[in-house]
Amino acid sequence: MLERLHDRIGKYWATDLFLHLYAMRKGSVTYLFHPLAPRCIMRLSDHLLTYEQTNNALPRLGRIAAVLIARAPAFNPQLSQTVSLIHPSLRKRAQEDERVVICGHDVFQDWRKEKVHLVKVANVLNRQYFDDETIGTAIAKSAISSVERLPCLSAPERAQ
Ligand SMILES: C[S@@+](CC[C@H](N)C(=O)[O-])C[C@H]1O[C@@H](n2cnc3c(N)ncnc32)[C@H](O)[C@@H]1O
Repeated sequence: MLERLHDRIGKYWATDLFLHLYAMRKGSVTYLFHPLAPRCIMRLSDHLLTYEQTNNALPRLGRIAAVLIARAPAFNPQLSQTVSLIHPSLRKRAQEDERVVICGHDVFQDWRKEKVHLVKVANVLNRQYFDDETIGTAIAKSAISSVERLPCLSAPERAQ
């Protein structure tokens, strides 16, 4: 979208709830830690990717995942690296073009920056994550409600 609109935008806000997390390596396994709470949220090895969230997992796999996550080492800031959650091409674009701004934003909080003309919601307000009432709250509260006249687009849900 940014490429298509390139010359016609005054400002482009790229937002997400969190912009980074922390990674710690132990042997051949990498553990990813939540940016606010020092808890392991993902474990990666050459053969296995394990999430802390096991909702809808097959019960046996969910239990294995819980055991693997529980065995994660304690978070140690000195041994951890910050990992950006923003795509490198977008980060590069933001460095080169001051109209492109990356910032943290919770869609359930009021949008306090300038009004926008178009909102693209990319796979966030999705019934796999939130119920209809919660999605309604996000639509009423945030940047979406600051849109004047132009429509709000929701990207097609990828996780079906
Ligand atoms: C499936 S990912 C989609 C990521 C990206 N928009 C894309 O299309 O590749 C869902 C995203 O929703 C973000 N998210 C979850 N809760 C949020 C909230 N309350 N406010 C803003 N973003 C949120 C997560 O951080 C995550 O990046």
